Amino acid sequence: MAHISSDITQSPQSQSEMATAVDDIMAQYHDKTGLVLNTLNDIQERYRYLPEEALHRVSENTGVLLDDLKQMGDFFDYLSLDPTGRYVIEVCDGTCCHIQGAPRLIDKIERVLGIKIGEVTEDGMISIKAVNCVGACGIAPVVISEGRVYGHVRLVQVGEIVAETWDRAMAEES
Ligand code: FES
Repeated sequence: MAHISSDITQSPQSQSEMATAVDDIMAQYHDKTGLVLNTLNDIQERYRYLPEEALHRVSENTGVLLDDLKQMGDFFDYLSLDPTGRYVIEVCDGTCCHIQGAPRLIDKIERVLGIKIGEVTEDGMISIKAVNCVGACGIAPVVISEGRVYGHVRLVQVGEIVAETWDRAMAEES
């Protein structure tokens, strides 16, 4: 259906613009407690991922090592070091869901969308993410699409979940 895109709608247009945006974000946080994490959250919200150039700027401004910032981006499920679509289909790949077939669900979603985990459809709209246990093991395997939780998901439901995600994306865009 689609391929990877680096043309994300809200991608920064230049390094200096990004540096200014990061500085503006950081200026909001006078209390240094939680400064880094709040800043990363805001960058994620603005660009839908943590661009390397933005992490460089945070590192310059705070003295926190770039590698440490990347580790934070990797550790927290709500942060991403890779570009993400405007809409994200999350597949829980915690132990319960993994045993109950999460890898097969991921494979099917990848085939339906024509992208791999960590990639974005060419219109920048949808990406797929594998996440750790979302605390709903009783209804494993679990897929979450923009806040909508699907439990006991079977392979035959994948097309429907993707179609619903597209429908909601299109409705919100129009
Ligand atoms: S492992 Fe998926 S909800 Fe717990």
